[in-house]
Amino acid sequence: MTGTGNTWRAAAAISEELSAKGWTVNMVELRKGAESPKGDFAGDLFVLSFPVLAFGIPAMVRTVLRGLRGRGSDAVVFATWGGAATASLWQAAGFLRRKGFRVVATGGAAYPFNWTQMLAPSDAASSRSMTREGDAEARRFANAVSGSTARAGEARRFADAVHGAVAGGHGEKASVRRTRAASIIGGVPVAWLYSTIGRFGLAALFAADERCTACGACARECPARAIVMAGKGESRRPQWRTRCQGCNRCINMCPGAAIQSSPVRASVHLTVNVVLIVLSVIGLNRLSALAGLPPYLSIPAWIVAFVLLVVYLSRLQFTALEPLLFALEGMPGLRKRIGRSWTAGFGRNSAEGFTGRAGKQAGKKISGRRR
Ligand SMILES: Cc1cc2nc3c(=O)[nH]c(=O)nc-3n(C[C@H](O)[C@H](O)[C@H](O)COP(=O)(O)O)c2cc1C
Ligand code: SF4
Ligand code: SF4
Repeated sequence: MTGTGNTWRAAAAISEELSAKGWTVNMVELRKGAESPKGDFAGDLFVLSFPVLAFGIPAMVRTVLRGLRGRGSDAVVFATWGGAATASLWQAAGFLRRKGFRVVATGGAAYPFNWTQMLAPSDAASSRSMTREGDAEARRFANAVSGSTARAGEARRFADAVHGAVAGGHGEKASVRRTRAASIIGGVPVAWLYSTIGRFGLAALFAADERCTACGACARECPARAIVMAGKGESRRPQWRTRCQGCNRCINMCPGAAIQSSPVRASVHLTVNVVLIVLSVIGLNRLSALAGLPPYLSIPAWIVAFVLLVVYLSRLQFTALEPLLFALEGMPGLRKRIGRSWTAGFGRNSAEGFTGRAGKQAGKKISGRRR
């Protein structure tokens, strides 16, 4: 899966190295609506590549691969990130193991940070050099795993030494294990919160400003099919749905740089969330008093109920509020105000050579079979 093409580049580099060593490589972009690998895996090595999103694996990876079974086949994981792997490699390895794969190595590489929804991308020269280094890392990883899967130990040591990554557990130094444990412990809650609520919140911030030409490219390109073109005539524009993964392809690839993060939208959602939290506290307080639970039972029950209620209500608000905000945005004057944002001054960034829908390009993903 790729948002802005970094992972597509890494997967293409891995694919080239494996092909040069005599492997037949079948690359498939993990994207909603595209054919994804399913059934029993028939190749020799399954390579899973994805961008790290909020310390973890994108939620969509799990859903599009739900029909795939490893049946004991070897698999490796290669992630791309802007800063660090945190919990993502551990999560991905666990996911593949549960699907019946034998995970022989995990690794990844730093590429340009693509979270343009919040932060300005790096300048072109730094992005280029970072991309070159990322590509080189992906090639080194492919070389470490390519000789034979019997060399898995070597690949594992390579991955662990470079990234403090998780592979299978032996041959690691204590410092690597500590780094790994810290990043997993810290990363898991963030990754969980992001995939449960965070990505809905971020999708709810997107707004197309008045420069939008309603070309529909963002809706066509979205790997999660999370954008629909809605509204009529002058007010026709993209509307974001909760399927959004937060990959930032739309904001980075809109030809007119018309997609922004809206502070007005952020304020509305924040206010609604604060109100929901206060109401949850009052409601649960009353309920626990009514139930007459002893304190040692009521405190944990109260905390669990509170977290569940807030998560549920927060998710609900993204569906319930969206039609109202979208309708308000369609009103002349309000659209300009809602679309006004700090991101309007940012450049946009996607990987060199990546023109969207990775499946159309030279890079397609995964499943290797040795000749
Ligand atoms: C919403 C979002 C969250 C991200 N979270 C992280 C993160 O937690 N750690 C990190 O190192 N990089 C993070 N990144 C950066 C991406 O992982 C990185 O830029 C990646 O190479 C993008 O690959 P792609 O172009 O294939 O989507 C994040 C990017 C986005 C858009
Ligand atoms: S936001 Fe950009 S890509 Fe989407 S329809 Fe408008 S101009 Fe086209
Ligand atoms: S809506 Fe934008 S950020 Fe969300 S998944 Fe689609 S392209 Fe990515």
